[in-house]
Amino acid sequence: MRNWRKAIVALAVVAVLAGFQLQHLLGSGGHQAAAVPRFTLTDHHGRTITEAEYRGQYLLIYFGYTFCPDVCPTSLSTITEALEILGTRADTIVPILISVDPQRDSTEILTDYVAAFSPRMVGLTGTPEQIEAAAQQFGAIYARNGDGTDYTMDHSASIYLIAPDGRLVTTIPHGTPPRGLADMVALKLGG
Ligand code: NI
Repeated sequence: MRNWRKAIVALAVVAVLAGFQLQHLLGSGGHQAAAVPRFTLTDHHGRTITEAEYRGQYLLIYFGYTFCPDVCPTSLSTITEALEILGTRADTIVPILISVDPQRDSTEILTDYVAAFSPRMVGLTGTPEQIEAAAQQFGAIYARNGDGTDYTMDHSASIYLIAPDGRLVTTIPHGTPPRGLADMVALKLGG
């Protein structure tokens, strides 16, 4: 009798988790992220960069923009703090900001911005089409809010952990504190 009850409870837990997962996917715009997200973007040297550039390294990828009033600075600080918590274990991790605002985020602005968070952080930009294609691969969404030069960008704020083989390992929800992010990454690093 007890085993039956355990089995039923276990099934209920699985059902709830599956439902949560589905909701999470739908909540992120309905795009299911690609197993190996592809992108073609430009770095601060004006070089074309694809996902293949970073094979062999872990990546923490975030979509945002330098004019963001609060969400991006908070998220990028969280990434920086998590890397500090991880210490030398973070040596194989490259934090990357992909701009969703190529109109204002020149490579110069982007480079100065990411350097303020970490000397290791990389800023990538591209044409609007390249950025849209990259965002779709990760299931990230964004939308311009306002006209002229005085506008904001609404955007999803998840952090994507990419494995050395290019696979998307996990999506870390917005609002995860630095310690939580560090723990999640440490788990995937295997300790
Ligand atoms: Ni932002």
